[in-house]
Order: sequence, then structure tokens, then C-alpha cells
Amino acid sequence: MAERPIVIYGDPVLREKSKKVDEINQDVKDLVSDLTDTLNRASGLGLTANQIGVAKRVFIIDLRAVDINETLRVFINPEIIERSKEEVELEEGCLSFPDLYLKVTRPEKVRIRALDLDGNEFEVTAEGIAARAVQHEYDHAEGKLFIDCVSPLTRTMIKGRLKKLVAAS
Ligand code: NI
Repeated sequence: MAERPIVIYGDPVLREKSKKVDEINQDVKDLVSDLTDTLNRASGLGLTANQIGVAKRVFIIDLRAVDINETLRVFINPEIIERSKEEVELEEGCLSFPDLYLKVTRPEKVRIRALDLDGNEFEVTAEGIAARAVQHEYDHAEGKLFIDCVSPLTRTMIKGRLKKLVAAS
């Protein structure tokens, strides 16, 4: 398949709540293949389908750049089923917001349930950077963005940069 352009902030598809996948057919396999090719070219840890313009509940996480033991993971119809009470602040970036990095507070650990590319359901507890990546991508599938997770003050401070992204998108 092919690398696809990454949708930049300002495109309404990023605000769409993505639809559940009913069947893991060739379209879904092609979508995952495109997500993989697109993420491989970009330097990011994860990518959600609506970031390449497809509002389906599918995302991939690739932590190989930070952990050699990792593999690329596919999450179809993901659900976060547990969130730890402990929260942690970490800096996040997003491929749909070039050069914007923000400190975001989120639960330290999450448990997620999803289907893999063979249609098998799995559950996994993610912590550290994996928990961060999973929550960030899960939010994308919900139409939520990391700029929604910062304080009103930070939001005010980045207003000009967001306007520029919208104007260029
Ligand atoms: Ni993102």
C-alpha cells in the first residue's frame, strides 16, 4: 500500500468520533498497511486512522524507537477499560500538530481492550510511554486532541500557533 498525507489540525476529520469496524476485511487491512507506511516515514510513536482521513476506530503504536523489544501494535475498536488514579505529566507531540509540544497530565497506567488484525480480542496493561501513546491515540479515535488536555492558560498561549496551522491546512 502507500504512505498517505497526514491530516493537519484544522481539518474537521480530526474532530470526528470514529466509527467501529464491523468486519476486518481487506479495506481494514489496507488501512493498517497505509497507517504503517505513513508512520514509518514520520517520526511519531503512533497514528490513528482519522489522521490519514479515515474516521474508523483503528490506531497503531510503534515504540521501537524507544524500546528495542517492542513491535508495531495494531488496535482495532479499542476501549480503555481501566485508568490508574495516579497521574503523570509528560511532554507530548502529535503528527497533526507539527512542532508543537505540550505538557499533558494523564493517568500513569491504563488497561486497554481491542482486536488485532486477525480479529482476536486482546487486553493489555500499558504504562510509561506506552500508556501515554495509547491514551493519545485513543483520544484521536474519539475526536479529542492533546490541546484539549492542557490548561486554559496554555491554550491561550498557543492560540496564535493553532491559528497558523488552521490557515495552512
Ligand atoms: Ni496525535
